[in-house]
Amino acid sequence: MIATDHELDAEAGRLFRLLMHVDCEPGRPWNYETCRRLAPLTLEIARLKREQGAIILAHSYVEPEIIYGVADFKGDSYFLSLKAREARAAKIVFAGVVFMAETAKILSPHAQVVVPDRGSGCSLADSLTGAQLRELRAAYPDAAVVCYINSTAEVKAESDVCVTSGNVHDIVAQLPQRRILFVPDRLMGQNIRVELQRRGIAKEIITSDGTCIVHDVFDARAVADARARFPGLRVVAHPECTAEVAAAADYVGSTGGMMKYVRATSAPYFLMLTECGLVGRLQVEDPEKRFIGGCRLCPYMKLNSLEKVRDALAAPRPDQIITLDEDLRRRAARSIERMFELAPRD
Ligand code: 13P
Ligand code: SF4
Repeated sequence: MIATDHELDAEAGRLFRLLMHVDCEPGRPWNYETCRRLAPLTLEIARLKREQGAIILAHSYVEPEIIYGVADFKGDSYFLSLKAREARAAKIVFAGVVFMAETAKILSPHAQVVVPDRGSGCSLADSLTGAQLRELRAAYPDAAVVCYINSTAEVKAESDVCVTSGNVHDIVAQLPQRRILFVPDRLMGQNIRVELQRRGIAKEIITSDGTCIVHDVFDARAVADARARFPGLRVVAHPECTAEVAAAADYVGSTGGMMKYVRATSAPYFLMLTECGLVGRLQVEDPEKRFIGGCRLCPYMKLNSLEKVRDALAAPRPDQIITLDEDLRRRAARSIERMFELAPRD
């Protein structure tokens, strides 16, 4: 069914009222004409969702026209994995990266889970295979194996417990083992060491060597320069940054935690040490806040587009459909369910 001009104008108006606030990504002006051009596509996706009993989950780093145009749920990895687990939808489109869609499939095995672009990897998830983790595990047999959710299903299947950026410290602190093999983020491993020391908890943290290509380049000296130039500045960092950057920040946490912090804090300026999509979300949801700093993009997250979401809904290609061996899925589900048991309740 073709949308009427009236429906298209109404949809363009809805998009424009939200997206007019976004100005973090250079070269992407959000004017009414842009929104009017997108409207046929967002309406077509809404229709396909209804016809197919589908939902769309979107990570906060994907383009704002996906988040505010078509997503049913938007947020960080933990929130989206909870939503995937409680979903009763026949189909889940995951606009994020492949490890997130795999997690959704692990938790919602009866749904068809599709990704807009199979190339949407992650430098962390791609840094360690299940076979490499088995070798590490054998070298440290007394260690609890803790995987960051930014890991493949194979790595999750070899782990005792999975964690996200929002619950990593609380979960590691509860584990009985003194030695922790934490994979695949070396920098988050450093941040765990610092935080557990601060809490007076003695643990030895061993890590593999992955880093996030978006967060590993932020620099503590640039934070000091920014503070000198913008008095009253609040600095907000993700725990995938180095320990030096984390030490220089006013708040360190998951993307969901970072959003909550900014919304609850009054300050003249904020510097967000994370992917720029999060600044876009804050500009839409808290337009009074002012942000300084450049825009770092995750090349994997930015492979998502409305066109690819529509194609994955209408007629997914085999490479867009997530499939997992059932034994592997069950083993991976155990480490994620353990996370849900140990994670603090909000
Ligand atoms: P969050 O779970 O904090 O959203 O982090 C996901 C991620 O990929 C950060 O780079
Ligand atoms: Fe992976 Fe970094 Fe992109 Fe997050 S921002 S998906 S950790 S590469």
